Amino acid sequence: MSPRRSEKGKPLLPLKVTGTGSFLPEKRLTNDELAQFLDTSDEWIRTRTGIRTRHILSPEEIPATMGIRAAQRALTRAKRSPEDLDLLLVATNVPEEPIPGTAPHIALGLGMGKGAFADVSAGCAGFLYALAMAGAMLHAGMAETALVLGTEALSRFVNWQDRATCVLFGDGAGAVVLEKGQGASGILGVALRGDATKLGLLRIEAGGVRLPASSETVRAGKHFLQMEGKGLFRAAVGMMAEATRAALNQASLSLAEVDWLIPHQANLRIIEALVKRLRIPEGKVVVNIDRVANTSTASIPIALDELVQGGKVESGQILALTAFGAGACYGTVILRW
Ligand code: COA
Repeated sequence: MSPRRSEKGKPLLPLKVTGTGSFLPEKRLTNDELAQFLDTSDEWIRTRTGIRTRHILSPEEIPATMGIRAAQRALTRAKRSPEDLDLLLVATNVPEEPIPGTAPHIALGLGMGKGAFADVSAGCAGFLYALAMAGAMLHAGMAETALVLGTEALSRFVNWQDRATCVLFGDGAGAVVLEKGQGASGILGVALRGDATKLGLLRIEAGGVRLPASSETVRAGKHFLQMEGKGLFRAAVGMMAEATRAALNQASLSLAEVDWLIPHQANLRIIEALVKRLRIPEGKVVVNIDRVANTSTASIPIALDELVQGGKVESGQILALTAFGAGACYGTVILRW
């Protein structure tokens, strides 16, 4: 299917981002602290990934508590209350519990009224999938005020004895409030993609219907996140570059017209390779992986919130948000602020 193109100056899905918010747990875990119980070093982690430290949620916290804090911040900035929301989409990979998912817990904690809420699972690209879905629903008149959230606590699913995975991830949440718009701001281009032949690159095998939890699955460590790092690394740059070009094409924009590129923060070397391939100047690229590591679905909304709170985003600017992850789902959303 060839996507409908945005007429220059006219958003495909008109909307306004009226508030952003994020939350990072208080506890930080540095590379040096990891090296106290793992055969690793600050030098290895920094040079291979760009990560220096990450936030880890406390035993009392859950993804919903992080998500609620991020959502409250976004709602306050949007001058909206939870009762104003008629849609809440929560991007997350590992739900609060198998039934129900995370969204109802967040809706309850926020004090949302009768609006719709649901989880969206699309790997680390989940936030972009949810953003596009919410944008389309606003445009179709199915909602007027939406909250899109990414919240993730992969620290609960990594094997803390596996140095190849546990050093990469951090916990956190990020949120945006979207409101129906009529002006020039909104989603100008969307390229949501997937390559299911790569679904084996990142997975938690056990605990679902295919391989229910048993003492054997626990003994075999099948409830931990497993990853083929090299395969993901190789695929990531091509996927994000292709989706970004396609979304810009739909938006009738060139790479030179992008003001801010917000890539999924999985590995600094992946970001650098992407930036080189797209020839986007470094000053336009948002990077916070050194402080937060890979927060999966929360990665893009946290980076976006930091950019907005830093007063760096101006009305009319073009933002390219791009991500890849489990599935392998990937994609890019082009926003005009
Ligand atoms: N500390 C020290 N050594 C480590 C290590 C660590 N934390 N993790 C792995 N190593 C070792 C390996 O055991 C290997 O040792 P060997 O050569 O003796 O076998 C060596 O370092 C090289 O490992 P390799 O896997 O080749 O490293 P790499 O350069 O590919 O980097 C990743 C590994 C995981 C950082 C990199 O592949 C990556 O970031 N991939 C993408 C992951 C990703 O994006 N995941 C999330 C998707 S949303």
